Amino acid sequence: MSPTDFRQRFARVTLAHAPTPLEFMPNFTAALGGPNLYVKRDDCTGLAMGGNKARQLEYYLGEAKSQNADTVIITGAVQSNFVRQAAAAARKLGMGIHVQLEDRVEGKDDLYRTSGNVLLDHLLGATVHNFPVGEDEAAADAALEDIADQVRAEGGRPYVVHLGMGHPPLGSLGYVDSALETLDQAANQGLSLDAVVLASGSAATHSGFLVGLRHGGSAVPVYGICVRRDAGQQAPRVLRRVREVEEMVGIASPIAESDIKVDDSWLAPGYGQLNPDVTEALEMTAHTEGLLLDPVYTAKTMAGLIGLVRRGTFDDNANVLFLHTGGQPALFGYSQLLS
Ligand SMILES: Cc1ncc(COP(=O)(O)O)c(C=O)c1O
Repeated sequence: MSPTDFRQRFARVTLAHAPTPLEFMPNFTAALGGPNLYVKRDDCTGLAMGGNKARQLEYYLGEAKSQNADTVIITGAVQSNFVRQAAAAARKLGMGIHVQLEDRVEGKDDLYRTSGNVLLDHLLGATVHNFPVGEDEAAADAALEDIADQVRAEGGRPYVVHLGMGHPPLGSLGYVDSALETLDQAANQGLSLDAVVLASGSAATHSGFLVGLRHGGSAVPVYGICVRRDAGQQAPRVLRRVREVEEMVGIASPIAESDIKVDDSWLAPGYGQLNPDVTEALEMTAHTEGLLLDPVYTAKTMAGLIGLVRRGTFDDNANVLFLHTGGQPALFGYSQLLS
C-alpha cells in the first residue's frame, strides 16, 4: 500500500505547479542565530500568483467537474486568496465564477477594498457579491446557497465551496499531497526535518499537512500559528479536521490529540491586522532573503517562527521548515505597510 492510494478515491484536477521548491534560507538563518531555517515554497504553485489554495482547489474543482458543474461559488474575506485562486481555477477550467466578499477586517481603507486580490478578482471576471458580516460561517454559506439558486434559475449548474465545518474538508487532501511531496524532497536532499511551522486558519492546510506527514511515516512536530481565531477555538477545529482527513486517507493509527499544536501568541489585534512582530517578520525575510510574505497569514506565521526560535523551542542544530502558503497579492491592499 502506498500513502498516495487515497487519490484513487477522490476526483482531482491539476492546478498547482508542483513540486514546489524546498530551499535553505542561509541569510535568515544567520540573522536569527538559531536553527537552520528552510522554506517550502507553496507560494510558487503558479495559479494566478500562487499560494496554498491551488492545491486545495484541485480536489474541490475535481468534485465540481465530476458533478458537471459549470459555475463555482465561493466566499472569503475582502482580500481572500482562496477567492482569487478559485476565480482563476474556474476560468482555467472554462467555468463561471461568483465570489462573495465578507467584511471581516475593521478600519480598512479604499486600497484594501479595491487593490490586491480584489483587483485580481475583477480582472478574472468574477461576479462580486458583498457580504456585510465577517464572523458567521453559517450565514455566509446560506448566502452562497442563495447565489446558487440564482445561478440555477438562470440555467447554470453551480458548485459551492462552503466555508462551514459541516462540509467535508476536501481541500485538506491538497495538503496531504504537499506533506508527502515535502517528505520525498527532504529525503532526496538528505535533509532530516525537526519541525514544521505553518499557518492555521480554516485548518485545511494544518490538518492536511499533519495527517500527510504521519501517513507518510514522519513524526516531525507541526506548529500551527493561529491567524484567524484564538487557540481555544482553533485546537478543536484542527482536531475535528484531522479526524476527518485521517478517515479520508485511511491512516493506519490515529494522531494523538497532544500532537495538535496551536499557538495564538502572534494573532493580536486580530485577523488581518498587523502588529510589530508581523512587520518585523515581513521586513526580515525581505531584507535577508528577498523573500516576500503576506500581511495576513505568512508574516504572522513567520512572526511565530521567529518567536519560537527566540523562546528556545528548537535546538541550534535543528532543521526547521517554514511552509510558505503565499498570499502576497494582499500586500498591495495594505497601505499601512508603508507608514
Ligand atoms: C496565504 C494563505 N496562507 C495560509 C492560509 C491558511 O490556510 P488554511 O485556511 O488552509 O488554514 C490562507 C487561507 O486563506 C492563505 O490565504
